[in-house]
Amino acid sequence: MSATPIRATRPATRGMPVPPEVTVHDLPVTGELPAALSGRYVRIGPNPVDPNQHPFVGDGMVHGIALRDGRAVWYRNRWIRTDRVCRQLAEHPLPGPRHGLSDNANANVIQHAGRTLALGEAGVLPVELDDELGSVATIDFDGTLPNGFASHPECDPITGELFTVAYYHELPYVQYLIVDVAGRIRRCEPVAVQGTPMMHSLSLTDRHALLYDLPVVFDTDLATVGSRYPYAWDRDRPARIGVLPREAAGTAIRWFDVDPCYVFHPLNAYEIGDRIIADVIRHDRVFDRDRLRPSESRPTLHRWTIDLATGTTADEQLDDLAQECPRVDDRRKTMPYRYGYTVAMGPGNPFGGSVLLKHDLLRKTVALHDFGPGREAGEAVFVPRTPTSAEDEGWLLTYVHDAGTDRTDLVVLNADDFTGPPQAVVHLPVSVPHGFHAAWLPTDMLRAW
Ligand SMILES: [Fe+2]
Repeated sequence: MSATPIRATRPATRGMPVPPEVTVHDLPVTGELPAALSGRYVRIGPNPVDPNQHPFVGDGMVHGIALRDGRAVWYRNRWIRTDRVCRQLAEHPLPGPRHGLSDNANANVIQHAGRTLALGEAGVLPVELDDELGSVATIDFDGTLPNGFASHPECDPITGELFTVAYYHELPYVQYLIVDVAGRIRRCEPVAVQGTPMMHSLSLTDRHALLYDLPVVFDTDLATVGSRYPYAWDRDRPARIGVLPREAAGTAIRWFDVDPCYVFHPLNAYEIGDRIIADVIRHDRVFDRDRLRPSESRPTLHRWTIDLATGTTADEQLDDLAQECPRVDDRRKTMPYRYGYTVAMGPGNPFGGSVLLKHDLLRKTVALHDFGPGREAGEAVFVPRTPTSAEDEGWLLTYVHDAGTDRTDLVVLNADDFTGPPQAVVHLPVSVPHGFHAAWLPTDMLRAW
């Protein structure tokens, strides 16, 4: 553990002190914020980003903006209260259970069963957040979760249940989990795997879960020398996709070989007859020669087609742009869909870039929204204008950092006027550091705030 005081550390790439926790009310807005946008846009990530540490292990900070009645009501940034952060801030540790070596929930934020949860990697337990992004407690889903959880659950938009796969290096299997709409684990299936692969996410169709058993594994040599995230590329390990019926035992999984690669994030997946279509961001190689970089190649959008009748797979690269942070209209998860939104990666930048991409997967076209030189967008989240709006009829929300001013904006684009001017821009008086994943947390799923 580093003994560096949290408030004195600096992000690697921006040269500015990491801001203390701040609260700013009534932020200035350019354009017109839609009154229907009522909720919180949040992004979480490791803060500070230390170039000498594995990019996954910085202490988590969540940055959020509350929108209501056409106003930007507040901005808040808050450390996730890990035990380490509580010690640094001279606070009591969070109540709740502990699991494993890390409690660093720095990777993702979701809203489920009335709770806002910060999620981490490699068996970290979720941290429940309050409406103002303060840490409340670590949770194990009311005692129903064995071992640890995961950072990338998929939510079935029809049932509202969460599906995920959790890995932890001391387990000889991975855990396939289903969380019911009451926020309790209703299914936990061990799935046997060789060694201890890093499974960052899974894909979900209306019938199957797809598990990605790829060549990044727990490395005991790295663990021995004290790495806080001891996972590395294994050149001898094959790559395969596991297809598991959603309600089956873990032993029912069917494995399909693919060329060695790594997938952090799926875009979406669905089924047509006996074929499963899985769209993912595919990295040729990660954590091999350089174990501090999340990619050693240009991540690109691929379509895997798995034919359950013939037992074959096909791999199609959909375009040659380097990109990550894939998102869809979450109402289209698990089913045929047309549009995907990603971030074109800037040179040498694994966290963002100046260009958002909108994929029309029906017409096989890509549109670009370029924020201009020196500006860096992160993961863009789609919000429909109304619950019944068609796919793509809504807004895309993303933080955009300006290197010239070292300030960050929240930019609201009209997804269906993707290359047009923003619908609105909320101006922050601070810089939001690089981050991982973003979420829109609508008010109507929460208590009043
Ligand atoms: Fe991720």
